[in-house]
Amino acid sequence: MTLATAPGKAILLGEHAVVYGRPAIAVPVREVCARAEVLALSDASAGTVTVEAPDVGLAGNLKELDPSHPIPRIILDTLHALGPGLFPAVHLRVTSSIPIASGMGSGAAVSVAIARALSEHLGLPLPPDEISALAFAVERIHHGTPSGIDNTVVAFGQPVYFRLGARPMPFDIAGRMHLVLGDTGVASPTATAVGMVRDRWRADQPVYERHFDSLGQCADQARGLLEAGRIAEIGPLMDASHQVLKEIGVSTPGLDALVQAAREAGAWGAKLSGAGRGGTMLALVSEEDIDRVRQALTVAGAVRTIYTQVGS
Ligand code: MEV
Repeated sequence: MTLATAPGKAILLGEHAVVYGRPAIAVPVREVCARAEVLALSDASAGTVTVEAPDVGLAGNLKELDPSHPIPRIILDTLHALGPGLFPAVHLRVTSSIPIASGMGSGAAVSVAIARALSEHLGLPLPPDEISALAFAVERIHHGTPSGIDNTVVAFGQPVYFRLGARPMPFDIAGRMHLVLGDTGVASPTATAVGMVRDRWRADQPVYERHFDSLGQCADQARGLLEAGRIAEIGPLMDASHQVLKEIGVSTPGLDALVQAAREAGAWGAKLSGAGRGGTMLALVSEEDIDRVRQALTVAGAVRTIYTQVGS
């Protein structure tokens, strides 16, 4: 049996602006993950792939599944990338603890886990950039015009500084960053939020370009601070970014309430994370305030809180 996992993710700074060429920073969230298990099928003919993904109610022989569904799609694309030739029959089981449409990269993580498990099982492990490219192709079918940041951070499993068209830069954070995520429980497909921002950008490009500049500048400043271990100083950049994201129109009263509750409970900074319009928010906290912020988020209506630590 070959098992591969891929973490969830949070966008620390720069969401939406990253679709318009500004830099953004994303971090892995290892407390949730997608898992893909590949088992040899001894009683089936070579080349057979059977699939089981109970979380999304998918089961059957790959040949009979809808090839445009993201799971069959990533399997087909991975097998194609591995090259022609018959391979032994396999059974693939896919599960995930990452909430769907919550801004935590569940689709990208499922694709990455599958591509990694299959390529390793067939003895041709692919490097993170190739796994990321395979996942990106699936993201493009299902998420409109994604920037590629989700598949990149999930495939590299490391903090990443990302800019469209440039080589993604995984980087190290000096020191330890404590993050608390609060899930509004409101599903928000990325494609819808990105499409809404695009309509607004088309209607008022100068204003939206300025918003994107501000978000990108926050991401740029944050990278230097993280590399220098000046973690608490990211807080005000997160607060400023949340304000801009509100002006862009992707926050909601539910997200604002969680952001406010986290700040009042002592967070150094808080903002929505990902596409917005629901999904998840993110708070940067000191080690002493982790529990207090989690409790405050629950009282303010979070259906789930996740604590994660990034850095050394
Ligand atoms: C989604 O995690 C982040 C967005 O910027 C979309 C993207 O970059 O593809 C909203």
